[in-house]
Amino acid sequence: MNLPILTAVLLGLVLTPALADYHQQTDISKKISIGGGYQIMTINRKWLVASIEQKTNHGSWKTIWNYDTGFMATKVLPEKACYISIMNRTEMPSFDALPQLAAHIRNHQRSPTKEITFTLVKTIVRDLESYGPDTFSMCIGLTTYVAYEVHGPQFNLGSCIKLEVLQYLALTYCHNNNYV
Ligand SMILES: *[C@@H]1O[C@H](CO)[C@@H](O)[C@H](O)[C@H]1NC(C)=O
Repeated sequence: MNLPILTAVLLGLVLTPALADYHQQTDISKKISIGGGYQIMTINRKWLVASIEQKTNHGSWKTIWNYDTGFMATKVLPEKACYISIMNRTEMPSFDALPQLAAHIRNHQRSPTKEITFTLVKTIVRDLESYGPDTFSMCIGLTTYVAYEVHGPQFNLGSCIKLEVLQYLALTYCHNNNYV
């Protein structure tokens, strides 16, 4: 083997993993049409953050799932509110399963098979930065609530808003009448 070829081979060995790493870090973005509007899913593999945003005529919302910090945050626009909660990893899809979820979207209306219900407590979140830059820039200036997961039948949930994420998971946020 002469020198230029050997160099090329060695360079190939060095570059291939570097390029593979680069592609793994690239954002994936997918736009999905959903009855009268659309949802956009973005996945950042480097930061282990996924976001799903819905825009329709009746309003819009965005939810950010940070698989690194273990927190999720949801902005609901007509309400100008941001709901921050712990991500329950036994109930949430795994980070690696997210592209699959988007691929399985059907054109016909389909209701999510899973639902997580939260009760909201209005709070001033002083360390908003600690939830990551995406959540910070999404929630800054909005009314922030901490959202606590609730299980079983609830009798005093008050008014709820149900967000259907990728036809897979319903996130239901309820204003607790006891705290409003
Ligand atoms: C997380 O989900 C599991 C399964 O639904 C549930 O048993 C558990 O109570 C949840 N954790 C919290 C903190 O709500």
